[in-house]
Amino acid sequence: MSILEKHGAIERNASLLLTLSLVVVCIGGIVEVAPLFYFQNTIEKVDGMRPYTPLELAGRNIYVREGCYVCHSQMIRTFRDETERYGHYSLAAESMYDHPFQWGSKRTGPDLARVGGRYSDVWHVEHLRHPQALVPESIMPRYGFLETTELDTSLVAASLKANQLVGVPYTDEDIANAQADLVAQATPDADTSGLTTRYANVKAEDFDGNPKAITEMDALVAYLQMLGTLVDFSTYDAKSNYR
Ligand code: HEC
Repeated sequence: MSILEKHGAIERNASLLLTLSLVVVCIGGIVEVAPLFYFQNTIEKVDGMRPYTPLELAGRNIYVREGCYVCHSQMIRTFRDETERYGHYSLAAESMYDHPFQWGSKRTGPDLARVGGRYSDVWHVEHLRHPQALVPESIMPRYGFLETTELDTSLVAASLKANQLVGVPYTDEDIANAQADLVAQATPDADTSGLTTRYANVKAEDFDGNPKAITEMDALVAYLQMLGTLVDFSTYDAKSNYR
């Protein structure tokens, strides 16, 4: 009996075929999954990554609430056309504090993973207020109401706490100071010493150009301006991660 004929015997017996298929699938599954139990971490460590400041986190919540991810991705793929347009491809570590992540699946507008620092605060405020004033052919909706909506700062500590629960390394001190840190980051000439000891590499300024109030625009622009700015790619060595 040739091997093909033996296989014919399996194919003619549905129960046997099912049982043996299951055995094969299980072996394949174990081979794929088992190594993951022996890794400490599947995300490479990268210098510079830190959790969001309270103001940035509030801005991120507005980004999610307004559905910006419906038109914008935040993941630069490892293709030349993408890295030439947007910068270094995204690293897993860059979204490790994102709950939920904002990789997105559609680019009606450009990728925003490294938009931080590319434009001035004034540009962002103008653009969000009236995208067509800066890019006439833009189909992006207007978000001017963010400028006139005061930010509800009472929820930010709870937001940090929720992130802490799912593994973001906020300390209890960060949570206790969340509201004060938020105000300090958006108020010109405020005492930011506490904020900057808790969070490295923070941009503190009056993001919306209106020093009288902390608005949702302040928070959203603070978030946009830090996107992709934490990792210093002039010192990042991709090869060292493939040892
Ligand atoms: C209906 C789709 C759509 C939605 C929703 C949308 N955008 Fe856009 N966005 C675009 C398009 C198209 C462009 C490119 C033209 C332009 O600059 O206006 C763009 C451009 C941008 C840019 C400039 C990016 C660059 O590199 O030049 C930023 C920043 C931006 N959007 C932020 C946002 C934010 C924040 C939100 C949510 C509050 C948002 N967008 C919602 C479509 C959208």
